[in-house]
Amino acid sequence: MPEDAGSEVAELQRELEAAYAQLVEAHKMASLGRLLASVVHEINTPIGSILSNNEVILRSLEKLKQQLGASRIEEALDIIEIMKSLAAVDKIACERISSVVRGLKTFARVDDSEWRKVDLNESIRNTLKLAGCEFRRRVVVETDLADLPEVECLPSMLNQVFLNILVNAGQAIEGEGKVTVRTRPEGDCVRVSISDTGRGIKPEYVQRIFMPGFTTKPVGIGTGLGLSISRQIVVERHGGSIDFESEPGAGTTFHIRIPIEHPRPAEPNRS
Ligand SMILES: Nc1ncnc2c1ncn2[C@@H]1O[C@H](COP(=O)(O)OP(=O)(O)OP(=O)(O)O)[C@@H](O)[C@H]1O
Ligand SMILES: [Mg+2]
Repeated sequence: MPEDAGSEVAELQRELEAAYAQLVEAHKMASLGRLLASVVHEINTPIGSILSNNEVILRSLEKLKQQLGASRIEEALDIIEIMKSLAAVDKIACERISSVVRGLKTFARVDDSEWRKVDLNESIRNTLKLAGCEFRRRVVVETDLADLPEVECLPSMLNQVFLNILVNAGQAIEGEGKVTVRTRPEGDCVRVSISDTGRGIKPEYVQRIFMPGFTTKPVGIGTGLGLSISRQIVVERHGGSIDFESEPGAGTTFHIRIPIEHPRPAEPNRS
């Protein structure tokens, strides 16, 4: 190949990679956007309860002052007990808010594009905090997370994969159901398996679900890019694998395997 053509190909390759990176980012933002309503609800509910508890506490303090002024110790102690239980409820409400915020921060980090060693259980827990907002009361989440060796990976990319597959799992369930997340060390990999009790994948779709643009969801719900992006991240970037088993009407399980060590030769020469 002439040198010019070679450099043109390299240039096109770079442009393609940049466009693809933008697509991945846009898909992540669209998924987050769709989750936003449930995230806001998840934060608003505990804030509402903190606010109303606070009003009761303020009124109770006023009463407490009166009771103590009249040396009615028994009554004063009762009021203190009520305030203690309200403060305990507030603590739970604050924990719920900060847990959702932690989940959001995991995805908002733009500086997290380096290879790092991470505990994938931690990534799963953070991603579940976000996906859980959507599942709340409709889908029960069960986790079975084994002790794992740290995995060398692009953590924010893998979070995106877990989010895509969890959102798909939730969307596959009509009404109530269950999503189970399992992690296991497996030879030189870590396996993450995400199961749902949803509608399953029809045999005629099985060959196509990883194709970019393939979706069975209405416009505005699905773009058909989630699994194709997930496969690219898992297989091309991490040298891992992603596959699934599905029984129509009963549910689906996706298995993601990520090598513990990042295969060095695939890394571009940065010197
Ligand atoms: N857990 C699942 N259960 C049943 N069908 C699934 C499941 N996961 C994926 N699918 C099928 O595979 C198709 C492609 O999934 P993919 O995540 O790539 O796109 P999407 O969910 O339709 O849209 P997007 O993820 O871009 O919002 C889905 O439309 C659905 O038909
Ligand atoms: Mg999807």
